[in-house]
Amino acid sequence: MSPTPPPVETTIAGLRARLDAERAAGRSIALVPTMGSLHEGHLALVGRAREIADVVVVSIFVNPLQFGPTEDFDRYPRDLDRDRAALADHAVAVVFAPTAAEMYPTGPVQTRVTAGQVGGTLDGRSRPGHFDGMLTVVAKLLLIAGPHVAVFGQKDAQQLFLVQRMVRDLDVPTRIEVVDTVRADDGLALSSRNAFLDERQRRAARTIPAALEAAQSAADRGLDAVVAAAQSVLSGEPEVELDYFAVVDPTTFLPVGDEYRGLARALVAARVGPTRLIDNELIALH
Ligand code: PAF
Repeated sequence: MSPTPPPVETTIAGLRARLDAERAAGRSIALVPTMGSLHEGHLALVGRAREIADVVVVSIFVNPLQFGPTEDFDRYPRDLDRDRAALADHAVAVVFAPTAAEMYPTGPVQTRVTAGQVGGTLDGRSRPGHFDGMLTVVAKLLLIAGPHVAVFGQKDAQQLFLVQRMVRDLDVPTRIEVVDTVRADDGLALSSRNAFLDERQRRAARTIPAALEAAQSAADRGLDAVVAAAQSVLSGEPEVELDYFAVVDPTTFLPVGDEYRGLARALVAARVGPTRLIDNELIALH
């Protein structure tokens, strides 16, 4: 017998009613926010959610607010049946898949969460408004579902940092649980956007995790050596157009200076063909 896909709730009122009943019965709730196109990385988030809560909710919503006018909102892959099938064996209580009209009934919202200084750096510099849009929808999802815990991946490190800070700044009563990046056999971090890569681009994209490995290996020689090692790997692959390689203090997400010692996060964003990919790793600077 084929496994049954989880039920779908498309309305805010419907989801709230269902989760109110779970809370009333004393069950804890975990939310896994996604934009669909689910892969093993998402399933790792769901697996962790299942370990730490009684009821797992997966939201699937391609949030228009976090895409710029020239970005891939229209071509972002959407296939709810495939996503539900992927979740079939994973004890997901409900998939929340609202329409844009359900989430933004009056069109673009006037009230937004702003991501502050860090929201304008790195990915936020290349994608103006992205993090305000992302935080706004995450805030809405947390208010709609009222989960005890929400599970995010380390791969989107800047997103994760900003969500953690929003929850702290706004006293949102949800704990943020972090799951490590899941990688394919060739080292590439799993991402829904990997589906856009053809074979040659996929081979070229391998230089992104390779640059991070090189950065880790150079870390005992200091920041300049880290930057040089990563850039030498990335510049050796003409198909990869570097957006940034940066090393930040994990507690502030601001760039570290030469004098910095301790754990830092090395981050890469690059375009491979038309596809923008990001990745990161912790490095220990000596
Ligand atoms: O990481 C994502 O898929 C999205 O940014 C999120 C957190 C679901 C918000 O739309």
